[in-house]
Amino acid sequence: MRIAHVAVSILAGAAMLFGPSALAGDTVKVVVRTDTPGPVINRNIYGHFVEHLGRGVYEGIWVGEDSPIPNTRGIRNDVVAALKKINVPVIRWPGGCFADNYHWRDGIGPRDQRPQGINSSWGNVRETNAFGTHEFMDFLGQIGAQPYISVNVGSGTPREQEDWLEYMTAPADSGPGKERTKNGREQPWNVPYIGVGNESWGCGGNMLAAHYADQFRLYASYLHTRTGDKAKLIASGADTDDYDWTDTVMSRAMNWRPKLTPLMYNDPKPLTDGVSLHFYTFASNDWHTKGRTVAFGEDQWMSTLQRAETMDELIQKHTAIMDKYDPEKKVALVVDEWGTWFAGEPDSPSALYQQNTLRDAMVAAVTLNIFNLHADRVRIANIAQMVNVLQAMILTDKERMIVTPSYHVFEMYKVHQDATAIPVEFTSPVYRLGNQSLPALSISASRDKSGKVHVSVVNIDPRHDVALNLLLPGVSATHASARILTASDMQSFNSFDAPDRVSAKSFPNVTIARSTVALSVPAKSIIVIEVN
Ligand code: AHR
Repeated sequence: MRIAHVAVSILAGAAMLFGPSALAGDTVKVVVRTDTPGPVINRNIYGHFVEHLGRGVYEGIWVGEDSPIPNTRGIRNDVVAALKKINVPVIRWPGGCFADNYHWRDGIGPRDQRPQGINSSWGNVRETNAFGTHEFMDFLGQIGAQPYISVNVGSGTPREQEDWLEYMTAPADSGPGKERTKNGREQPWNVPYIGVGNESWGCGGNMLAAHYADQFRLYASYLHTRTGDKAKLIASGADTDDYDWTDTVMSRAMNWRPKLTPLMYNDPKPLTDGVSLHFYTFASNDWHTKGRTVAFGEDQWMSTLQRAETMDELIQKHTAIMDKYDPEKKVALVVDEWGTWFAGEPDSPSALYQQNTLRDAMVAAVTLNIFNLHADRVRIANIAQMVNVLQAMILTDKERMIVTPSYHVFEMYKVHQDATAIPVEFTSPVYRLGNQSLPALSISASRDKSGKVHVSVVNIDPRHDVALNLLLPGVSATHASARILTASDMQSFNSFDAPDRVSAKSFPNVTIARSTVALSVPAKSIIVIEVN
């Protein structure tokens, strides 16, 4: 699937024109509509995903208390320190496909007595269960994030998942609370988000949409927290452009028609709080030809970014379906798996491990701009995956650790978390390669609680700089500063020997005069400008 590369593309918060009238070399005027603020950008759009897959958990996060790698209660300190700097708001766990094979009781109690399992989702490798509920919650506590627990619908039962939620949230003096206390945690945990199955159309049970929707209704009837706020339930959603799935799930899981006990249900609500969407970016539109991670040319730079830009069309179309059932946008579109997925390298140290280049950073930046612009409907998103898997923030090699170009995007973009989205209007120059084209610019903006305006600009064109004038009507700003992420080559990446080759730097070439900020955005770069 491709976005239409003609004429006008109007995002929720961006009116963007591109075509022959916007020529490379012209100064592009960007009106940052500070006078017409949009919705709040939910911080959870900047969420992450951790699955028991490859070295995503073991080595990547968990090394054990006896490891020579510095750790706190078994969780590696270097990874925690790096993650704290990007304000991780929420983490989805334990999968992915693994979630529908996971039985939570295997991961509680004394670690030396936990069953040694087999991870049948990912290569039949040994699953020690050393990292279970308590360890995950400890990890979240160390970095200051909230849990998004994906429960097992495929091979589990409603009773098993109800028991898990009860174990996590029951008061300390109840039976499950006493067991939790014996295992080291007296206070109930806050569990704000529950994913009801994962990819239930695939590895999560190969269900048809109507069958899944009925399963969702069944599970939703029992998944109640025992203390604290009610957990928000997120239905397993569509793969890419499976609009029928969204329609079926919305029509059946949205409409809550209690037939009994009006006293219990005197405040009827939708059964679901969110419907998910999974979308991965390859260097083509074909799962079987994903392309290489580092060994790619400009043709695959273009095709990868074309594919990434498809996210906008997907959100618009899934949203249009959700709007039919939920015009007030009570139900969130939860993009709980997204990111690049390239072909595995022959010398890959673990499953789905991939290097991360400037191209991955571009995908992250463009996608986060799209989420910012659709903040009215997209309220949680989780990049896949946090450490050592797919489009990772962090790569490890035993005791060594580096952060990736994608990490730097999350660090630069954290200013948008909980800020108010600001619509932007501009005419983008066109980036062309042969008969392929894309708008060269992707832009989103927000105003934070202290009044600072942030504008994130991506220039996808790897050969042409773009001169920009940012107009901020009604803003009497006196100060503008900026940071940039770029590199000498499209294929540049950070390695254990050169960990800072692609990293965010100050970008001093920004001027401000009478509410207009001027700068030239270098080819293949990401810039976040702060105005106050
Ligand atoms: O992120 C890797 C896998 O991709 C997940 O386990 C699954 O949900 C998806 O297909």
